[in-house]
Amino acid sequence: MTLSLVTAGESHGPALVAIVTGLPAGLVLDREAIDADLRRRQQGYGRSPRQQIEQDAVEVLAGLRHGRTLGTPLALVVRNRDHKNWTWGMSPWPPEGEPTGKGTTPVTLPRPGHADLAGALKYGLEDTRDALERASARHTAVLVAAGAVAKALLAAIGIEVAGAVHDQDDLQRRIDEARGERDTVGGVVEVRARGVPPGLGSYATREDRLDARLAAALMGIQAVKGVEIGEGFALAQLRGSQAHDEIVAGFVRETNHAGGIEAGVSNGEAVVVRAAMKPLPTLMKPLASVDLQTGEPGEALVERSDVAAVEALAVVAEAAVAFELARAAREKFGGDALGDFVAAWRAYLERIPWQPTR
Ligand SMILES: Cc1cc2nc3c(=O)[nH]c(=O)nc-3n(C[C@H](O)[C@H](O)[C@H](O)COP(=O)(O)O)c2cc1C
Repeated sequence: MTLSLVTAGESHGPALVAIVTGLPAGLVLDREAIDADLRRRQQGYGRSPRQQIEQDAVEVLAGLRHGRTLGTPLALVVRNRDHKNWTWGMSPWPPEGEPTGKGTTPVTLPRPGHADLAGALKYGLEDTRDALERASARHTAVLVAAGAVAKALLAAIGIEVAGAVHDQDDLQRRIDEARGERDTVGGVVEVRARGVPPGLGSYATREDRLDARLAAALMGIQAVKGVEIGEGFALAQLRGSQAHDEIVAGFVRETNHAGGIEAGVSNGEAVVVRAAMKPLPTLMKPLASVDLQTGEPGEALVERSDVAAVEALAVVAEAAVAFELARAAREKFGGDALGDFVAAWRAYLERIPWQPTR
């Protein structure tokens, strides 16, 4: 039994869509909890005014009846309210009538750091909007909705996942300074999962190892350029005697440099991962570019954009980690109905001698 996620949707198209398969039947979902995560994603210092337009809310088209999962594919939709300004420009079908609204003129000046040039070359595009619309992190709205579902599943087996900005102290100052100079910034976020039992993931391949899977989940988010598990890069500078977490009574640890994962398997300590976000590529003071149509030098596209989205990334990273942990938990505990899944988790905890004190 495994959990899978397929998404579709463009930034200014009609909607974002996610289909989640492999959920057990009987899981109670709380619409308000999903919408609360969608709102958290939209908040944060440095976001663009688009967030006021969107006010995201989840719709469920399939897989749920009276708030309980049916064990069938769950279809989630988050509408793009801004689409009303792009009905001609982002019409799925050939648009009728005169061009009106946004997105009517081709974008030919690719932004360094965004999907524009790579997408244009890859697909032979004359309008880089065909690339940037899907590449946009607007996509993360539906990932957050799927993550909220995963968090509900994890809660049934006592796992809590929380993301936060890691370098909070001077973030607002850095954002204010960057905004003043029409520039952008990035930052680091940390996700912690508590209550993860030992035994999620396995030893040897990137498909099996929980650390590899979490790294892939985080690197799957736009603008994430580095991932650490536990103390990550800092471990490289330590001695083995300082780096490894000694085992004490109850088969628990007093330190957690490993970030809760050893040999690709969760060890019962909190799972701790960090993701580094690069500065956002859309600059109000644009960088140099070259026009795809004329080959002439120019300035890159300027489009409404965030100065920073680090707080939003913390919410998205939380969702991505939750989804991957839920996937690993489905593999370990299985079950078609939620009760079977929970019973397998209980029986497992009774079998092993691990006794968490925290
Ligand atoms: C939550 C979130 C919000 C983002 N907002 C913007 C934005 O407003 N402007 C922008 O240029 N990039 C933004 N990005 C980053 C781009 O989507 C990303 O840099 C781009 O798709 C290229 O992908 P890459 O950075 O992974 O190479 C955001 C990323 C995230 C995770």
